[in-house]
Amino acid sequence: MLETRGLTVRFGGHVAVNDVSCSFAPGTLTAIVGPNGAGKTTYFNLISGQLKATAGTVLLDGQLLSGQSASARTRAGLGRAFQLTNLFPNLTVLENVRLAVQATREGAHRRGLNLWSIWSDHRALTERADSILAEVALKAKEHATVASLPHGDQRKLEVALLMALEPKVFMFDEPTAGMNAAEAPVILDLIRALKKDGTKTILLVEHKMDVVRELADRIIVLHNGQLVADGEPSEVIASPIVQEAYLGVAKEAA
Ligand SMILES: Nc1ncnc2c1ncn2[C@@H]1O[C@H](COP(=O)(O)OP(=O)(O)OP(=O)(O)O)[C@@H](O)[C@H]1O
Ligand SMILES: [Mg+2]
Repeated sequence: MLETRGLTVRFGGHVAVNDVSCSFAPGTLTAIVGPNGAGKTTYFNLISGQLKATAGTVLLDGQLLSGQSASARTRAGLGRAFQLTNLFPNLTVLENVRLAVQATREGAHRRGLNLWSIWSDHRALTERADSILAEVALKAKEHATVASLPHGDQRKLEVALLMALEPKVFMFDEPTAGMNAAEAPVILDLIRALKKDGTKTILLVEHKMDVVRELADRIIVLHNGQLVADGEPSEVIASPIVQEAYLGVAKEAA
């Protein structure tokens, strides 16, 4: 269970995330919606440790993550799609994913300097990396350097690296933004597969309401940094606060 308690961050006089208390259970996909500037990405940054909270705590399975570095939180099981600045631009797609797989299987090399085990580890890592690349439809580009990839493929690679970490919690922030009509379904299929697994905690920031309607088990709404609605998707979408504050429908219809 991922939990935030009273999570708050202040930028000067502006409270971008304001006292957000919320729990996210394994096996559920929660969509986080809200207008531009509502604090969705900032909330993710506070959870993943990219940003230091002014107040409040983050817990994963009862373990306090507040005060820990972003990489310590990753090791604890929090998976945030890598930003491209975290990648090795001059290594190939395959090499990058293999490194991510290797990072999660650090135990393997403690067996010592045994050529057989090094070779078989290497082969297992490559096989796992290959299968992840197949899942995100990047296999054809496996020998391309990251720097040479078009934008859509870079976003797919971000998701591949997230998969490689095998986290307990998957955080997707507008995962299909900037993708073309052929690329977006690949990512949505992956999220569907993660959901089907039934054990992952998935958080999805998404503006496209058709995607939210299809995938979400629950919707929470952030507005001016505050949690203003939380519940079953059809109820939340129909609620006056969402219709007015987010979709702007009520006012237009009136
Ligand atoms: N590092 C920062 N320093 C100062 N202000 C910030 C910082 N990061 C975010 N903000 C402000 O916090 C508010 C919330 O921004 P955030 O990016 O979290 O919104 P969002 O809900 O993700 O919006 P969008 O839907 O456009 O992605 C905005 O007013 C933004 O300008
Ligand atoms: Mg955002």
